[in-house]
Amino acid sequence: MHTIIAANWKMHTTRAEARALARALAGDLDAVPARADVEIVLFPPFTALEAAREGLEGVAPAIALGGQNVYPAQSGAFTGEISPVMLRDAGCAWVLTGHSERRHIFGETSALVGEKTAFALKNGLSVILCVGETLAEREAGQLENVLRAQVTEGLAGVPAEDLARLAVAYEPVWAIGTGRVASPDDIVAAHAFVRGQLTALRGETAGRGVRILYGGSVKPDNAAGILALDNVNGLLVGGASLQAESFLRIIRAGQQA
Ligand code: PGA
Repeated sequence: MHTIIAANWKMHTTRAEARALARALAGDLDAVPARADVEIVLFPPFTALEAAREGLEGVAPAIALGGQNVYPAQSGAFTGEISPVMLRDAGCAWVLTGHSERRHIFGETSALVGEKTAFALKNGLSVILCVGETLAEREAGQLENVLRAQVTEGLAGVPAEDLARLAVAYEPVWAIGTGRVASPDDIVAAHAFVRGQLTALRGETAGRGVRILYGGSVKPDNAAGILALDNVNGLLVGGASLQAESFLRIIRAGQQA
């Protein structure tokens, strides 16, 4: 199973910054032979996709690109939205769905996240479906209920043949951008629960084939430890992916895992 090391740039980087960051990553990785069992994916803002692609010239497809959001229609009167065909046209192979900032700041429901996930997969993109509980939900003993609902609704419309292009990221909301990483026990328990949901919903073989990433305050010095945990098949990195030096150290941790 390939490890995924993904960079969520969120609402950061102008085109010039994106080009420089992508170029710095590409230049360094070019110096060391790429490991085929580690997939690296960058999620720049839409306006910087083209510039990031220019920065990666020469190393693609060792580093793939993805969009941070997608709308479940091919085209139409959806002001401010973007479709899978547009993302693919901009060089994306991947997209994020259900990021906690989309759910909590922009009010996306799990039903909409499920529609986006199924539509993006159907239209040829690979998807990282993000799930995770808020601190209030965890403290109220709702962790498993929240994860069960988000995984079930997230996968609801996904046919068996598209499952191989789906990954799930467990990102506890209280660990995102806070510097407060989940403990190894918390990560192992949540990932085991997500794995159990995947196998319950899709059967043993298919459920075991879905990669589960951890996200939430991943840094160069905790990446290797998190990657060594059971059912952790990759990392989704926010803040620490915005400097080439720190993201490269996280990539190296993935390559050594
Ligand atoms: P963080 O963000 O690494 O800055 O905590 C992770 C994410 O939101 O995907």
